[in-house]
Amino acid sequence: MIFEAVATGGCRSYLIGCEETCAAALIDPELSQIDRYIALAARDGLRIRYLIDTHTHADHFSATQQLARQLHVPVVMHSASPAPFIDLRLRGGELLVVGRLRLQALHTPGHTRDSMCLCIEDRVFTGDTLLIGATGRTDLPSGDAAALYESLFEGVLKLDPALKVFPAHEYKGRSHSTIGQELTENPRLQKRDRDTFIEMMQSLNLTMPTHVTEALRTNMSGGKTVAQMLSEAAAIVPFMSLGELKMCLESGKDDLAVLDVRERDAFEEGHIPGARLLPRGQLELRVNQELTDPTRRILAYCEFGRVSTLATATLRQMGFQGAVALDGGMKAWREAGYAVKAGKEP
Ligand SMILES: [Fe+2]
Repeated sequence: MIFEAVATGGCRSYLIGCEETCAAALIDPELSQIDRYIALAARDGLRIRYLIDTHTHADHFSATQQLARQLHVPVVMHSASPAPFIDLRLRGGELLVVGRLRLQALHTPGHTRDSMCLCIEDRVFTGDTLLIGATGRTDLPSGDAAALYESLFEGVLKLDPALKVFPAHEYKGRSHSTIGQELTENPRLQKRDRDTFIEMMQSLNLTMPTHVTEALRTNMSGGKTVAQMLSEAAAIVPFMSLGELKMCLESGKDDLAVLDVRERDAFEEGHIPGARLLPRGQLELRVNQELTDPTRRILAYCEFGRVSTLATATLRQMGFQGAVALDGGMKAWREAGYAVKAGKEP
């Protein structure tokens, strides 16, 4: 078996491949690491056949849907998953065939209703059901401490004690443990009475993970993250540096239309001299009156350079092929000490 682990902060993804057939499965991929997974598979001579999420993640952005589009392979989750874009829904006990390898799903609700663990040869991918020295939390949507108790003590922990445990999270840099080790050393598993375990899980008082609402929204619906919207816009937009814009304005040669896409009060407080105000929220509706020449060179800027990237992508989609975005924003322009004009539009 070919095996790769990828750490993204505290999140872990795993690539497992069959040496004989080159077929592979990718478990719990994260959106920011898409190029890395594809590169690792290529380096190892593997072709990814399945994209698997062990559960609906609340703390990272799953890459399964985007990779499925790129690789034309199915997204796999447990049948209880709410996401509408899943191609293959597994039930407990079912197998995925990955070349000569067999990946067996074990339904382990508790951390979420759709949690599953995946067993293959000498190891088990435990998702957020069982972590090294901890368990998944049960206070997020569809979490259930009683269900986690059953999944652990009647399920995962009854597996072969020699099985290696590879969790979806690890914050201390350990690569794995074993079922036997967790049984003896995991502090959360030492109180084996059902009610005591449930009470302990319910009184953990953990802080909410960052981006929890955005992660749940996008992972459950297949919708896009803010970072994805921005990177998709940036990919179809050329940028102009602050220095280039300054030179352009000073030379007075280039017939450049400079658009400030912030709100009126920000514009009046201080804008790039010569800029005109066209707030992002009114862009599509006012653009025909404001920009009559679709071939004209247009530069859009905002405060930080993000909204202007979206605005420029919109302008390009509308046919303004000369639209560029400022690399940076009004904040960077001010900090560079370049000229700022206050007051209303002329
Ligand atoms: Fe999780």
